[in-house]
Amino acid sequence: GCNASKKDTSKIEKDNGIIVGFSQIGAESAWRTCNTRSVQEAAAARGVQLVYDNAEQKQENQIKALRSFIAYQVDVIVFVPIVTDGWDNVLQEARDAGIPVLVTDRKIDVENQSLYAGFIGTDSLKEGRNAGQFVLDTFESKRDKDHINIVELFGTEGSSVALGRAEGFREVLKDHPEYRIIYSKSGDFLRSRGYELAIEFLEMYDDIDVIYSHNDGMTLGAIEAMEEKGLRPGKDIVIITIDAQQAAIDALRGGKVNCVIECNPKTGPEIIELAEKLAAGESIPRLQYVHEEVFYETDDLSLIEPRGY
Ligand code: AHR
Repeated sequence: GCNASKKDTSKIEKDNGIIVGFSQIGAESAWRTCNTRSVQEAAAARGVQLVYDNAEQKQENQIKALRSFIAYQVDVIVFVPIVTDGWDNVLQEARDAGIPVLVTDRKIDVENQSLYAGFIGTDSLKEGRNAGQFVLDTFESKRDKDHINIVELFGTEGSSVALGRAEGFREVLKDHPEYRIIYSKSGDFLRSRGYELAIEFLEMYDDIDVIYSHNDGMTLGAIEAMEEKGLRPGKDIVIITIDAQQAAIDALRGGKVNCVIECNPKTGPEIIELAEKLAAGESIPRLQYVHEEVFYETDDLSLIEPRGY
């Protein structure tokens, strides 16, 4: 399974009396369910009582969940904001109730930065830059082409991760006008949408050089659509994907994907540790990025450990 913790769990403590409200955005991807499990397992291992809510991809459900955590008087609120905007009011309510808030995975935009204690999660801007750099490196030697046509499978609209992945990618390519993003649409991080969008863009264009996909789920859907059309993913079209779930690593090994950029879902132990600190009234770092790697087709792929999800 999604192995949450490499830490020594022999020292499992009894219920330490802390209650953490955890608002997750849903179960849109394998990454997400791994992330949820990681937090749940880490809480159990530390004897932290977790009040879990799945918002099923709706911000209004998340806001409701946060309000119920406040009413319940949890010690700490942990939440994954589905989008960046719209959190000011509910976070002010948490502040008024004296409940510290930890933001994880995705970032928020609030006017008053002190409305949350800190963030731990992925560096999506860096992921986007890594993707752009891989495209540059790949086509550097293929100077016979006037244009490199890129399709982008965008994540959830308005989410910090999709925005960062798009921005970092464009930043690296901006001085290279021969690289053109000819199609960019949101597939909401869903495999089924990745498939549907691929059916659409493969109909529209027959000269696609690159698919840059914001997550593995959408990539796997697009690969399925390509293969149905008799195209060879990773060969006829260069494919870059983000997350690094096992199926994407398998596709990299099989030559169907050319670059996999890791987004690490196994943040439960760090999240719970930070929540415990907040519950104890201690301060935590404002911004913490988790360790993430990039896997290239030219790497020794036998060295990649099983991904666990
Ligand atoms: O916020 C992280 C993103 O959300 C992951 O890349 C994606 O798979 C998930 O659904």
